[in-house]
Amino acid sequence: MIFTVAIDGPAAAGKGTISRAVAARFGFAHLDTGALYRAVGVKGGDPVAAANGLTPEDLARDDLRTLEAGLAASRVAVIPEVRAALLDFQRRFARREGGAVLDGRDIGTVICPEAEVKLFVTASAEVRAHRRWLEVGGDAARVLAEVRERDDRDMNRADAPLKPAADAVLLDTSGLGPEEAIAQAIALVQAQL
Ligand code: C5P
Repeated sequence: MIFTVAIDGPAAAGKGTISRAVAARFGFAHLDTGALYRAVGVKGGDPVAAANGLTPEDLARDDLRTLEAGLAASRVAVIPEVRAALLDFQRRFARREGGAVLDGRDIGTVICPEAEVKLFVTASAEVRAHRRWLEVGGDAARVLAEVRERDDRDMNRADAPLKPAADAVLLDTSGLGPEEAIAQAIALVQAQL
């Protein structure tokens, strides 16, 4: 069975939590596409060469979840050649046998416009910054400023900007706990299977 669940949205909206739960519930493979851009961002050197030569070791680095890695990712993610280098891998993953969940910024718009389910997960910048702060700690005002900086760069870049696909279902998690957000996503997938 070929079945793709595309989950897009800004940083810390809940995409990762929802994607992992949906993948586990239906036995689908999961790809966190942000990790690809984070790995390119932290590798340093020429980002296009880094994207073309990405290895499993690059994706297993333990510094990929830091705020710095997120900002570095959003800087390399504006480069069209970086995005092009990562495209085929993501497309093949999306249409693999057995079902796939991909989370990112452009899955429903660019990587897999034919996805059977498209979800756009959002939450207010304050709620998202608070969630990220619970993960990374440090200065809360700085975390909020970095979330806003990343949103701004992701939404306003020329190539594959962050935006909902025309046929995406919007899920605002600002007032939802993880269980409720997961239940809504699972119901949506179930309805299309
Ligand atoms: O999802 P995550 O916060 O790990 O993504 C890090 C950065 O990678 C994003 O802010 C965005 O700039 C970039 N990204 C992207 N397209 C994707 C996934 C992530 O441009 N599909």
